Amino acid sequence: MAELKGKRLVLGVTGGVAAYKAAELARLFVKDGAEVHAVLTQSGARFVTPATFQALTGRPAWTDMWDARMPDNMAHIDLSRGADAIVVAPASADFLAKLAHGLADDLLSTLCLARDCPLIVAPAMNRQMWENPATQRNKSQLAQDGVIVLGPACGEQACGETGLGRMLEAAELHDAVVGFFQPKVLAGRRVLLTAGPTFEALDPVRGLTNLSSGRMGFALARAARDAGASVTLVSGPVALPTPAGVVRVDVQSAGEMREAVQRHVRETDIFISVAAVADYRPEQTAAQKIKKAAQPLTLTLQPNPDILAEIAALPQPPFCVGFAAESENLDEYAQGKRLAKKLPLVVGNLLRHGLGGDGNTVVMFDDRGRHPLGPAPKIEIARGIVAHIDQMLAGNGG
Ligand code: C5P
Repeated sequence: MAELKGKRLVLGVTGGVAAYKAAELARLFVKDGAEVHAVLTQSGARFVTPATFQALTGRPAWTDMWDARMPDNMAHIDLSRGADAIVVAPASADFLAKLAHGLADDLLSTLCLARDCPLIVAPAMNRQMWENPATQRNKSQLAQDGVIVLGPACGEQACGETGLGRMLEAAELHDAVVGFFQPKVLAGRRVLLTAGPTFEALDPVRGLTNLSSGRMGFALARAARDAGASVTLVSGPVALPTPAGVVRVDVQSAGEMREAVQRHVRETDIFISVAAVADYRPEQTAAQKIKKAAQPLTLTLQPNPDILAEIAALPQPPFCVGFAAESENLDEYAQGKRLAKKLPLVVGNLLRHGLGGDGNTVVMFDDRGRHPLGPAPKIEIARGIVAHIDQMLAGNGG
């Protein structure tokens, strides 16, 4: 993955035990292609040493405003020049206060004041320090000044207390920073998605399902969120974390998925149906566990309603996107499905290696023909689909 390729980031580390997570964040940024310049405050450097960041970023880590290594001894200006963002993680209560008041008495605070790029902060502190009206005032002031405040999260704290004040995890911060850089092409749009398999119960402990991992649908939820949409994700049973900021509705069967979709569809501009909905369900679900017997067991299956076709047939449907996973004749079957269900866009893929996995190769089919995407990681495919939807909504056809 190189979602941060070409991005130059200043990673500020202030004094707090969460500084250990900043080392992991530096690693994730670098792994994702970013050029990272670490700047530690004096107390930040008491928690994790500059050598750690130097090793992880492959560049000098800075702590001192008067560091003579900068060519013109103007570290406070040189470091943020050309930066795409300054990310301060962890941001202590003291540092937030400094930022809110425009103080500049060390390298990092000076850099923040002298910047011409976005500033993203991830607060981390004891819960009472966070709840203190002074900190809350500073946080609001910063938000008003256009600073992006990520978190804090609620949970166990190093001091033994529990509450709001934990820094977000490195992976969450990385995800948010990547999202921050995406074009907001779906700003103001409401997106509803289905994802994952459905589970059609046979009895209380058994059922019919499939191997859909839900990854493509979850990647699309993330891509739509990053594009500025408000996102509701109706998910079958999967083992995936909910992308931050996405409203998730968990369901089991196709019937439940249909009900959840119908409940939300009125407030939807774009419906993306990624779920591998079971085509059939057992005619009967046994109330008790079915007992083993010597004779063959015959199951009668009833067809499930086609959720997507129903939504697309509404008098004023949202912009509907379908998926078509085929084992052969991709173009013919996918275009056939698109026309049969009256969808503006179908995303087709050939099932060469079964379902699941982190990558995908797809072809988008619309009125204008076929548009291949990939092979690429699913999040990249998802961003391509979102960009195509934006083009179609803008009337450019993609
Ligand atoms: O016809 P087929 O099942 O291949 O169509 C796949 C598309 O239709 C996918 O977008 C899938 O989410 C949707 N679908 C649905 N309800 C069903 C079956 C499929 O919404 N019962």
